[in-house]
Amino acid sequence: MRKFTIFLSLAALLAACTGNDEKRQEAGNTDLFSEAIKTAEAQIGYQVKVIEESGKILNARTIENGHVQYISRQDWTSGFFPGTMFYMYDLTKDPKWLDVGVKYTEDLDTIKHLKWHHDVGFMIDCSFGNALRVTNNDAYKEVIIEAANSLSTRFRPAAGVIQSWDEDRGWQAERGWMCPVIIDNMMNLELLFKATEFSGDSTYYNIAVSHANNTMKHHYRDDWSCYHVVDYDKEQGGVRSKQNAQGYAHESAWARGQAWGLYGFAVSYRYTGDERYLEMADNIYNFIFTHQNLPDDLVPYWDFNAPNIPNEPRDASAAAIAASALYELVKFGKEEYRQTADQIMASLASDSYKALVGTNGNFLLRHSVGSIPHDNEIDVPLNYADYYFLEALTRKMRQEGTL
Ligand code: GLY
Repeated sequence: MRKFTIFLSLAALLAACTGNDEKRQEAGNTDLFSEAIKTAEAQIGYQVKVIEESGKILNARTIENGHVQYISRQDWTSGFFPGTMFYMYDLTKDPKWLDVGVKYTEDLDTIKHLKWHHDVGFMIDCSFGNALRVTNNDAYKEVIIEAANSLSTRFRPAAGVIQSWDEDRGWQAERGWMCPVIIDNMMNLELLFKATEFSGDSTYYNIAVSHANNTMKHHYRDDWSCYHVVDYDKEQGGVRSKQNAQGYAHESAWARGQAWGLYGFAVSYRYTGDERYLEMADNIYNFIFTHQNLPDDLVPYWDFNAPNIPNEPRDASAAAIAASALYELVKFGKEEYRQTADQIMASLASDSYKALVGTNGNFLLRHSVGSIPHDNEIDVPLNYADYYFLEALTRKMRQEGTL
Protein backbone atom coordinates (compact mmCIF):
# COMPACT_ATOMS: atom_id res chain seq x y z
CA MET A 1 0.00 0.00 0.00
CA ARG A 2 2.83 2.34 1.01
CA LYS A 3 4.70 1.51 -2.21
CA PHE A 4 1.54 2.26 -4.18
CA THR A 5 1.16 5.68 -2.47
CA ILE A 6 4.79 6.58 -3.18
CA PHE A 7 4.26 5.52 -6.81
CA LEU A 8 1.15 7.71 -7.07
CA SER A 9 2.97 10.71 -5.56
CA LEU A 10 5.84 10.26 -8.02
CA ALA A 11 3.37 9.99 -10.88
CA ALA A 12 1.61 13.19 -9.73
CA LEU A 13 4.95 14.99 -9.48
CA LEU A 14 5.93 13.85 -12.96
CA ALA A 15 2.58 14.92 -14.38
CA ALA A 16 2.91 18.32 -12.73
CA CYS A 17 6.41 18.72 -14.17
CA THR A 18 5.22 17.70 -17.64
CA GLY A 19 2.29 20.10 -17.32
CA ASN A 20 4.69 22.86 -16.31
CA ASP A 21 6.94 22.03 -19.25
CA GLU A 22 3.97 22.26 -21.59
CA LYS A 23 2.92 25.59 -20.06
CA ARG A 24 6.47 26.93 -20.37
CA GLN A 25 6.55 25.73 -23.98
CA GLU A 26 3.22 27.45 -24.68
CA ALA A 27 4.39 30.68 -23.07
CA GLY A 28 7.62 30.51 -25.07
CA ASN A 29 5.67 30.05 -28.28
CA THR A 30 3.30 32.91 -27.46
CA ASP A 31 6.37 35.16 -27.08
CA LEU A 32 7.74 33.81 -30.35
CA PHE A 33 4.58 34.71 -32.22
CA SER A 34 4.08 38.11 -30.62
CA GLU A 35 7.70 38.83 -31.57
CA ALA A 36 6.90 37.68 -35.12
CA ILE A 37 3.97 40.09 -35.28
CA LYS A 38 6.14 42.92 -33.97
CA THR A 39 8.82 42.12 -36.54
CA ALA A 40 6.17 42.01 -39.28
CA GLU A 41 4.85 45.40 -38.18
CA ALA A 42 8.35 46.87 -38.35
CA GLN A 43 9.45 45.19 -41.57
CA ILE A 44 6.31 45.39 -43.66
CA GLY A 45 5.50 48.77 -42.13
CA TYR A 46 8.81 50.09 -43.43
CA GLN A 47 8.17 48.46 -46.83
CA VAL A 48 4.88 50.37 -47.00
CA LYS A 49 6.48 53.62 -45.80
CA VAL A 50 9.04 53.51 -48.62
CA ILE A 51 6.28 52.87 -51.15
CA GLU A 52 4.04 55.61 -49.78
CA GLU A 53 6.93 58.08 -49.85
CA SER A 54 7.58 57.24 -53.50
CA GLY A 55 4.13 58.59 -54.37
CA LYS A 56 3.57 55.47 -56.50
CA ILE A 57 1.84 52.18 -55.89
CA LEU A 58 4.59 49.58 -55.89
CA ASN A 59 4.30 45.86 -55.31
CA ALA A 60 7.22 44.22 -53.48
CA ARG A 61 8.07 40.61 -54.41
CA THR A 62 11.63 39.77 -53.31
CA ILE A 63 15.19 41.11 -53.22
CA GLU A 64 17.82 40.84 -55.93
CA ASN A 65 21.41 41.99 -55.43
CA GLY A 66 20.35 43.63 -52.20
CA HIS A 67 17.50 45.64 -53.74
CA VAL A 68 13.76 45.20 -53.35
CA GLN A 69 12.21 43.95 -56.58
CA TYR A 70 8.89 45.55 -57.40
CA ILE A 71 6.70 43.76 -59.90
CA SER A 72 4.04 44.70 -62.44
CA ARG A 73 0.35 44.08 -61.88
CA GLN A 74 0.53 41.21 -64.40
CA ASP A 75 3.08 39.25 -62.35
CA TRP A 76 1.66 36.09 -60.80
CA THR A 77 2.62 37.29 -57.30
CA SER A 78 0.92 40.69 -57.49
CA GLY A 79 -1.95 39.72 -55.15
CA PHE A 80 0.23 38.72 -52.22
CA PHE A 81 1.59 42.08 -51.07
CA PRO A 82 -1.89 43.72 -51.04
CA GLY A 83 -3.29 40.60 -49.37
CA THR A 84 -0.60 40.74 -46.69
CA MET A 85 -1.98 44.13 -45.62
CA PHE A 86 -5.26 42.49 -44.61
CA TYR A 87 -3.54 39.84 -42.51
CA MET A 88 -1.55 42.62 -40.84
CA TYR A 89 -4.88 44.30 -40.13
CA ASP A 90 -6.28 41.04 -38.72
CA LEU A 91 -3.25 40.62 -36.49
CA THR A 92 -2.90 44.21 -35.25
CA LYS A 93 -6.34 45.82 -35.77
CA ASP A 94 -4.47 48.94 -36.84
CA PRO A 95 -6.63 50.70 -39.51
CA LYS A 96 -3.55 51.92 -41.37
CA TRP A 97 -3.20 48.40 -42.83
CA LEU A 98 -6.77 48.48 -44.02
CA ASP A 99 -6.22 51.76 -45.84
CA VAL A 100 -3.17 50.57 -47.75
CA GLY A 101 -4.71 47.14 -48.29
CA VAL A 102 -7.69 48.67 -50.04
CA LYS A 103 -5.51 51.07 -52.02
CA TYR A 104 -3.04 48.41 -53.25
CA THR A 105 -5.86 45.97 -53.95
CA GLU A 106 -7.93 48.39 -55.99
CA ASP A 107 -4.83 49.16 -58.04
CA LEU A 108 -5.11 45.56 -59.36
CA ASP A 109 -8.64 46.02 -60.68
CA THR A 110 -7.74 45.55 -64.38
CA ILE A 111 -6.24 42.13 -63.59
CA LYS A 112 -9.77 40.74 -63.53
CA HIS A 113 -9.48 40.75 -67.35
CA LEU A 114 -6.19 38.84 -67.44
CA LYS A 115 -6.51 35.75 -69.64
CA TRP A 116 -2.98 34.86 -70.70
CA HIS A 117 -2.07 32.75 -67.69
CA HIS A 118 -3.95 30.93 -64.94
CA ASP A 119 -2.64 32.92 -61.99
CA VAL A 120 -5.50 35.40 -62.05
CA GLY A 121 -6.90 33.20 -59.27
CA PHE A 122 -3.96 33.86 -56.96
CA MET A 123 -3.79 37.53 -57.96
CA ILE A 124 -7.42 38.45 -57.46
CA ASP A 125 -8.38 36.13 -54.64
CA CYS A 126 -5.43 36.97 -52.39
CA SER A 127 -6.09 40.70 -52.86
CA PHE A 128 -9.81 41.25 -53.53
CA GLY A 129 -10.82 38.04 -51.74
CA ASN A 130 -9.22 39.32 -48.54
CA ALA A 131 -10.50 42.85 -49.14
CA LEU A 132 -14.04 41.48 -49.36
CA ARG A 133 -13.57 39.34 -46.25
CA VAL A 134 -12.40 42.30 -44.21
CA THR A 135 -14.47 45.20 -45.62
CA ASN A 136 -17.67 43.46 -46.83
CA ASN A 137 -17.62 45.77 -49.86
CA ASP A 138 -19.93 43.96 -52.29
CA ALA A 139 -18.32 45.66 -55.29
CA TYR A 140 -15.40 43.26 -54.81
CA LYS A 141 -17.69 40.33 -55.57
CA GLU A 142 -18.06 41.65 -59.13
CA VAL A 143 -14.29 41.74 -59.50
CA ILE A 144 -14.07 38.13 -58.36
CA ILE A 145 -16.80 37.04 -60.78
CA GLU A 146 -15.15 38.88 -63.68
CA ALA A 147 -11.77 37.31 -62.84
CA ALA A 148 -13.47 33.89 -62.72
CA ASN A 149 -14.83 34.58 -66.23
CA SER A 150 -11.28 35.29 -67.37
CA LEU A 151 -9.92 32.14 -65.74
CA SER A 152 -12.75 30.09 -67.24
CA THR A 153 -11.63 31.04 -70.77
CA ARG A 154 -8.66 28.76 -70.09
CA PHE A 155 -10.84 25.71 -69.41
CA ARG A 156 -10.27 23.00 -72.02
CA PRO A 157 -13.40 20.82 -72.01
CA ALA A 158 -11.90 17.85 -73.90
CA ALA A 159 -9.21 17.47 -71.24
CA GLY A 160 -11.39 18.75 -68.38
CA VAL A 161 -8.72 21.09 -67.03
CA ILE A 162 -7.76 24.76 -66.89
CA GLN A 163 -4.67 25.39 -68.99
CA SER A 164 -1.99 26.97 -66.77
CA TRP A 165 0.51 28.41 -69.21
CA ASP A 166 0.19 29.32 -72.87
CA GLU A 167 2.04 26.71 -74.92
CA ASP A 168 3.51 29.33 -77.26
CA ARG A 169 4.71 31.99 -74.82
CA GLY A 170 8.04 32.57 -73.06
CA TRP A 171 10.33 29.74 -71.96
CA GLN A 172 7.33 27.40 -71.88
CA ALA A 173 7.17 27.55 -75.70
CA GLU A 174 10.46 25.61 -75.83
CA ARG A 175 9.01 22.56 -74.09
CA GLY A 176 6.70 21.26 -76.84
CA TRP A 177 3.66 21.28 -74.55
CA MET A 178 0.11 21.56 -75.87
CA CYS A 179 -1.84 22.27 -72.69
CA PRO A 180 0.47 22.46 -69.67
CA VAL A 181 -1.22 22.27 -66.29
CA ILE A 182 0.84 22.82 -63.16
CA ILE A 183 -0.03 21.64 -59.68
CA ASP A 184 -0.06 25.30 -58.57
CA ASN A 185 -3.32 25.65 -60.50
CA MET A 186 -5.15 23.96 -57.61
CA MET A 187 -4.72 27.30 -55.86
CA ASN A 188 -6.81 29.13 -58.46
CA LEU A 189 -9.92 27.07 -57.79
CA GLU A 190 -11.00 29.07 -54.73
CA LEU A 191 -11.75 32.02 -57.02
CA LEU A 192 -14.10 29.82 -59.07
CA PHE A 193 -15.86 28.39 -56.02
CA LYS A 194 -16.41 31.92 -54.73
CA ALA A 195 -17.71 33.12 -58.12
CA THR A 196 -20.43 30.45 -58.02
CA GLU A 197 -21.30 31.42 -54.45
CA PHE A 198 -21.61 35.10 -55.43
CA SER A 199 -23.32 34.69 -58.81
CA GLY A 200 -25.38 31.52 -58.39
CA ASP A 201 -23.88 30.31 -61.69
CA SER A 202 -22.63 26.74 -61.22
CA THR A 203 -20.38 26.86 -64.31
CA TYR A 204 -17.41 28.05 -62.26
CA TYR A 205 -17.95 25.38 -59.61
CA ASN A 206 -18.17 22.66 -62.26
CA ILE A 207 -14.94 23.80 -63.89
CA ALA A 208 -13.19 23.78 -60.51
CA VAL A 209 -14.44 20.28 -59.70
CA SER A 210 -13.46 18.94 -63.12
CA HIS A 211 -9.99 20.42 -62.71
CA ALA A 212 -9.56 19.04 -59.18
CA ASN A 213 -10.72 15.58 -60.25
CA ASN A 214 -8.34 15.43 -63.20
CA THR A 215 -5.49 16.71 -61.05
CA MET A 216 -6.26 13.99 -58.51
CA LYS A 217 -6.21 11.40 -61.29
CA HIS A 218 -3.21 12.52 -63.33
CA HIS A 219 -0.86 14.61 -61.25
CA TYR A 220 -0.15 12.15 -58.42
CA ARG A 221 2.21 9.21 -58.19
CA ASP A 222 1.67 6.01 -56.19
CA ASP A 223 3.56 7.49 -53.22
CA TRP A 224 1.27 10.59 -53.30
CA SER A 225 3.95 12.97 -54.43
CA CYS A 226 3.05 14.99 -57.50
CA TYR A 227 4.49 16.03 -60.81
CA HIS A 228 4.86 19.72 -61.37
CA VAL A 229 3.54 19.77 -64.96
CA VAL A 230 1.05 17.50 -66.71
CA ASP A 231 0.63 18.24 -70.39
CA TYR A 232 -2.82 17.39 -71.77
CA ASP A 233 -4.12 16.98 -75.31
CA LYS A 234 -6.60 19.82 -75.41
CA GLU A 235 -8.28 18.59 -78.57
CA GLN A 236 -8.66 14.85 -77.91
CA GLY A 237 -8.33 14.88 -74.13
CA GLY A 238 -5.87 12.64 -72.27
CA VAL A 239 -2.34 13.12 -70.99
CA ARG A 240 0.64 13.72 -73.29
CA SER A 241 3.43 13.82 -70.71
CA LYS A 242 4.24 14.36 -67.03
CA GLN A 243 7.21 16.59 -66.37
CA ASN A 244 9.04 19.06 -64.21
CA ALA A 245 9.61 22.81 -64.46
CA GLN A 246 10.68 24.28 -61.11
CA GLY A 247 11.73 21.12 -59.30
CA TYR A 248 14.87 19.05 -59.65
CA ALA A 249 13.75 16.40 -62.16
CA HIS A 250 10.68 14.96 -63.88
CA GLU A 251 10.40 12.24 -61.23
CA SER A 252 11.31 14.36 -58.21
CA ALA A 253 9.01 16.03 -55.70
CA TRP A 254 9.28 19.82 -55.87
CA ALA A 255 8.58 21.03 -52.33
CA ARG A 256 6.31 23.98 -53.10
CA GLY A 257 4.29 21.87 -55.53
CA GLN A 258 3.53 19.39 -52.75
CA ALA A 259 2.37 22.29 -50.56
CA TRP A 260 0.19 23.80 -53.30
CA GLY A 261 -1.52 20.43 -53.73
CA LEU A 262 -2.12 20.02 -49.98
CA TYR A 263 -3.63 23.50 -49.75
CA GLY A 264 -5.63 23.15 -52.97
CA PHE A 265 -7.32 19.91 -51.93
CA ALA A 266 -8.13 21.32 -48.49
CA VAL A 267 -9.88 24.26 -50.19
CA SER A 268 -11.67 21.94 -52.64
CA TYR A 269 -12.98 19.98 -49.67
CA ARG A 270 -14.14 23.19 -47.98
CA TYR A 271 -16.32 24.12 -50.95
CA THR A 272 -17.58 20.68 -52.02
CA GLY A 273 -17.57 18.44 -48.96
CA ASP A 274 -16.23 15.69 -51.26
CA GLU A 275 -14.42 13.26 -48.95
CA ARG A 276 -12.04 12.22 -51.74
CA TYR A 277 -10.38 15.63 -51.52
CA LEU A 278 -9.87 15.21 -47.79
CA GLU A 279 -8.33 11.79 -48.42
CA MET A 280 -6.03 13.39 -51.00
CA ALA A 281 -4.95 15.95 -48.41
CA ASP A 282 -4.26 13.11 -45.93
CA ASN A 283 -2.18 11.25 -48.50
CA ILE A 284 -0.20 14.35 -49.40
CA TYR A 285 0.30 15.07 -45.70
CA ASN A 286 1.75 11.60 -45.22
CA PHE A 287 4.08 11.99 -48.16
CA ILE A 288 5.46 15.30 -46.93
CA PHE A 289 5.65 14.71 -43.21
CA THR A 290 7.02 11.17 -43.21
CA HIS A 291 9.62 11.87 -45.88
CA GLN A 292 13.14 10.87 -44.88
CA ASN A 293 14.54 14.08 -46.39
CA LEU A 294 12.29 16.41 -44.42
CA PRO A 295 14.50 18.22 -41.88
CA ASP A 296 13.66 18.13 -38.17
CA ASP A 297 12.43 21.75 -38.23
CA LEU A 298 9.88 20.72 -40.92
CA VAL A 299 11.01 23.37 -43.40
CA PRO A 300 11.70 21.35 -46.54
CA TYR A 301 14.58 21.55 -48.94
CA TRP A 302 13.39 23.10 -52.23
CA ASP A 303 12.92 19.60 -53.65
CA PHE A 304 12.55 16.39 -51.65
CA ASN A 305 14.94 14.70 -54.10
CA ALA A 306 17.44 17.53 -54.54
CA PRO A 307 20.80 15.89 -55.20
CA ASN A 308 22.96 17.44 -52.46
CA ILE A 309 20.73 17.21 -49.41
CA PRO A 310 21.58 18.34 -46.69
CA ASN A 311 23.54 20.99 -48.60
CA GLU A 312 20.57 22.36 -50.50
CA PRO A 313 18.52 25.54 -49.95
CA ARG A 314 15.37 25.32 -47.88
CA ASP A 315 12.07 26.69 -49.07
CA ALA A 316 10.31 28.59 -46.29
CA SER A 317 7.46 29.43 -48.68
CA ALA A 318 6.58 25.73 -49.02
CA ALA A 319 6.57 25.37 -45.24
CA ALA A 320 4.32 28.43 -44.76
CA ILE A 321 1.81 27.26 -47.40
CA ALA A 322 1.69 23.80 -45.82
CA ALA A 323 1.20 25.22 -42.30
CA SER A 324 -1.72 27.35 -43.44
CA ALA A 325 -3.29 24.35 -45.20
CA LEU A 326 -2.88 22.23 -42.06
CA TYR A 327 -4.75 24.75 -39.89
CA GLU A 328 -7.57 24.60 -42.41
CA LEU A 329 -7.54 20.79 -42.16
CA VAL A 330 -7.65 21.02 -38.36
CA LYS A 331 -10.98 22.80 -38.81
CA PHE A 332 -12.21 19.76 -40.72
CA GLY A 333 -11.52 17.51 -37.74
CA LYS A 334 -7.87 16.70 -38.43
CA GLU A 335 -6.79 17.76 -34.95
CA GLU A 336 -3.73 15.52 -35.30
CA TYR A 337 -2.25 17.99 -37.82
CA ARG A 338 -2.18 20.90 -35.38
CA GLN A 339 1.07 19.83 -33.77
CA THR A 340 2.81 19.64 -37.14
CA ALA A 341 1.47 23.05 -38.13
CA ASP A 342 2.54 24.53 -34.79
CA GLN A 343 6.00 23.06 -35.19
CA ILE A 344 6.40 24.56 -38.66
CA MET A 345 5.23 27.93 -37.37
CA ALA A 346 7.65 27.81 -34.44
CA SER A 347 10.49 27.11 -36.88
CA LEU A 348 9.51 29.93 -39.22
CA ALA A 349 9.06 32.38 -36.34
CA SER A 350 12.49 31.50 -34.95
CA ASP A 351 15.64 33.46 -35.72
CA SER A 352 16.60 30.79 -38.25
CA TYR A 353 13.97 32.11 -40.67
CA LYS A 354 12.54 35.36 -39.30
CA ALA A 355 14.50 38.42 -40.41
CA LEU A 356 16.15 40.87 -38.08
CA VAL A 357 14.40 44.23 -38.23
CA GLY A 358 16.04 46.44 -40.84
CA THR A 359 17.39 43.55 -42.93
CA ASN A 360 16.02 41.21 -45.62
CA GLY A 361 14.62 43.97 -47.84
CA ASN A 362 11.91 44.52 -45.21
CA PHE A 363 10.35 41.13 -45.83
CA LEU A 364 9.52 38.97 -42.83
CA LEU A 365 10.87 35.53 -43.69
CA ARG A 366 14.23 34.49 -45.09
CA HIS A 367 15.24 31.38 -47.01
CA SER A 368 12.76 30.74 -49.80
CA VAL A 369 13.37 29.55 -53.34
CA GLY A 370 11.66 30.71 -56.54
CA SER A 371 13.06 28.44 -59.23
CA ILE A 372 16.46 26.81 -59.14
CA PRO A 373 16.24 25.38 -62.71
CA HIS A 374 15.69 28.95 -63.91
CA ASP A 375 18.50 30.18 -61.65
CA ASN A 376 16.02 32.58 -60.15
CA GLU A 377 15.36 33.65 -56.55
CA ILE A 378 17.53 31.22 -54.65
CA ASP A 379 17.55 31.53 -50.86
CA VAL A 380 15.72 34.86 -50.79
CA PRO A 381 12.63 36.37 -49.16
CA LEU A 382 9.44 36.00 -51.21
CA ASN A 383 6.20 37.93 -50.75
CA TYR A 384 4.17 34.71 -50.80
CA ALA A 385 6.22 33.16 -47.98
CA ASP A 386 5.24 36.17 -45.84
CA TYR A 387 1.63 36.06 -47.04
CA TYR A 388 1.04 32.40 -46.18
CA PHE A 389 2.95 32.66 -42.89
CA LEU A 390 0.71 35.54 -41.79
CA GLU A 391 -2.39 33.75 -43.04
CA ALA A 392 -1.35 30.65 -41.08
CA LEU A 393 -0.72 32.78 -37.99
CA THR A 394 -4.20 34.34 -38.15
CA ARG A 395 -5.71 30.86 -38.57
CA LYS A 396 -3.69 29.50 -35.65
CA MET A 397 -4.52 32.40 -33.35
CA ARG A 398 -8.22 32.35 -34.24
CA GLN A 399 -8.36 28.64 -33.49
CA GLU A 400 -6.63 29.22 -30.16
CA GLY A 401 -9.01 32.10 -29.36
CA THR A 402 -6.20 34.64 -29.14
CA LEU A 403 -7.35 36.76 -32.09
N1 GLY B 1 3.21 29.41 -58.89
C1 GLY B 1 4.59 29.54 -59.15
C2 GLY B 1 5.45 29.07 -58.05
O1 GLY B 1 5.00 28.45 -57.09
O2 GLY B 1 6.64 29.32 -58.14
